[in-house]
Amino acid sequence: MLLEVKELTKIYNVGLLRRKEIIAVKDVSFDVKPEMFLSLVGESGSGKTTTAKIILKLIKPTSGSIIFEGQNIEGINTLKDLRRYWRNVHGIFQDPYASFNPFHKVDRALGQAFTLLEGSNFDKESIINEALREVGLRPEEVLGKYPHELSGGQRQRIMIARCYILKPKLILADEPLSMIDASTRAGILKLFSKLRDEHKTSVIFITHDLGLAYYVSDEILIMYKGSIVERGPPHEIIEKPQAQYTKRLVEDVPLLYKKWSGF
Ligand SMILES: Nc1ncnc2c1ncn2[C@@H]1O[C@H](COP(=O)(O)OP(=O)(O)O)[C@@H](O)[C@H]1O
Ligand SMILES: [Mg+2]
Repeated sequence: MLLEVKELTKIYNVGLLRRKEIIAVKDVSFDVKPEMFLSLVGESGSGKTTTAKIILKLIKPTSGSIIFEGQNIEGINTLKDLRRYWRNVHGIFQDPYASFNPFHKVDRALGQAFTLLEGSNFDKESIINEALREVGLRPEEVLGKYPHELSGGQRQRIMIARCYILKPKLILADEPLSMIDASTRAGILKLFSKLRDEHKTSVIFITHDLGLAYYVSDEILIMYKGSIVERGPPHEIIEKPQAQYTKRLVEDVPLLYKKWSGF
């Protein structure tokens, strides 16, 4: 197993005296195998981002554990080990603009990927050019530009190009398409499947859009109010939803998706 998420719970203490408890994630368990495309689907507030942040070791769970390649990530403490973990488990977020420093050319965001790699003898220029072409960008159309000079889709493609430099074992993409123009979403989503097919990268794709998840996933987990209420292969989820919440989600999947999938 590549990643094991075991009985994860996260409680936030909020309010003036931090006495009010919000159970953001409640007893969540799932496994990610190598080369697996897993989608975590649920409406806003269901605990998806909290789960992602815990897996990326950006926040600590209240209880439960994350086991990566057999090792509890709680034991990762040195900067060197953290770097290695983030090279293997790479996060991609909703707002690609926020992932850039607006005062620096986009070249820098690509160059920074090399700081996570071991060794120093890289032909950075040719690796960057190659990675950009892999994600459907012409190097000359984006290099030397500032983030605001590019489209949202181009910015997210650059973030994915970093995956072609790092070759992580697991990509955790948290709503990577929600700020992207609808017409270019499918093309960008395909880049994640391409990474899986060509580099055996596993993907955890987080989305509120069951229709998008349907196309690319090996397995779908439905999350509702912090818990996983249903899980299974996409056709089972769409054709025979069991949980009340999943039934509602399936009804909301646009007709077009249902037509394509033979409904
Ligand atoms: N830092 C935080 N402090 C307090 N509550 C939070 C924090 N982050 C998230 N929450 C709450 O936890 C719940 C789950 O949030 P989140 O994990 O962001 O869900 P999703 O990504 O599915 O929208 C929500 O009720 C949200 O308001
Ligand atoms: Mg979120």
